[in-house]
Amino acid sequence: MDQKAKELASQGIVRIGDVAPDFTTDSSEGKIQWHQFIEGGWAILMSHPRDFTPVCTTEISAAAKLAPEWEKRKTKVAVVSVDSAEEHKRWVADINKYGGHPVNFPILDDKDKKISLLYGMLNQDHLADTGLPLTVRSVYFIGPDKKVKLILTYPAAVGRNFDEIIRCLDALQLSANKLIATPANWKQGDEVCIQPQVTDEQAATMFTNIRPVFPSCKLRMTSDPAATTNIVA
Ligand code: BEZ
Repeated sequence: MDQKAKELASQGIVRIGDVAPDFTTDSSEGKIQWHQFIEGGWAILMSHPRDFTPVCTTEISAAAKLAPEWEKRKTKVAVVSVDSAEEHKRWVADINKYGGHPVNFPILDDKDKKISLLYGMLNQDHLADTGLPLTVRSVYFIGPDKKVKLILTYPAAVGRNFDEIIRCLDALQLSANKLIATPANWKQGDEVCIQPQVTDEQAATMFTNIRPVFPSCKLRMTSDPAATTNIVA
């Protein structure tokens, strides 16, 4: 088996509901022990193909611009690619000049592909000059219990939509420990769906402003509970 096949075959699989695999690595901000870093709050782990590439630069700058939004949502961000901590540091200096939004989260060293292999971030079609697989654009949303709540994966040629990433985080934080779910195209402040296993009698004791919409599909809306509840654990 050649090295490319070996790397692809030895990748782990992380699914929603799994505890986010732990690791220790160097980063643009020094040594990181992952579970210690994310302890007690929400976290986002994002991979990208390579440092000093155009789309990746726009993405990391977009994430840096959102610093107040991550803070508001008590969410730590970390970024990873198969580059070294030294390369990450040089790239961060350029990203800061490009966008004017200082990168205030760590970019993790994964030159040995330890993290990419653990999470299964490597792609069979997206290869370095060496012919070996690179990371694609994955986003792992991790809850305060260290479990993976949502995963997004985009190919190298498609930059991520950070409005969607924030929207997913809001939906996750809103629905954590509540018997609600967010409908198509939901955004903060909109009504939410009452989960189908809740009977109408139970719903009447749990929710306000219930709006029955389509009984055969148990489609019942209620006010966004974030309006009255502290949603962040
Ligand atoms: C980019 O970040 O621009 C990029 C990286 C790898 C492949 C294609 C685009």
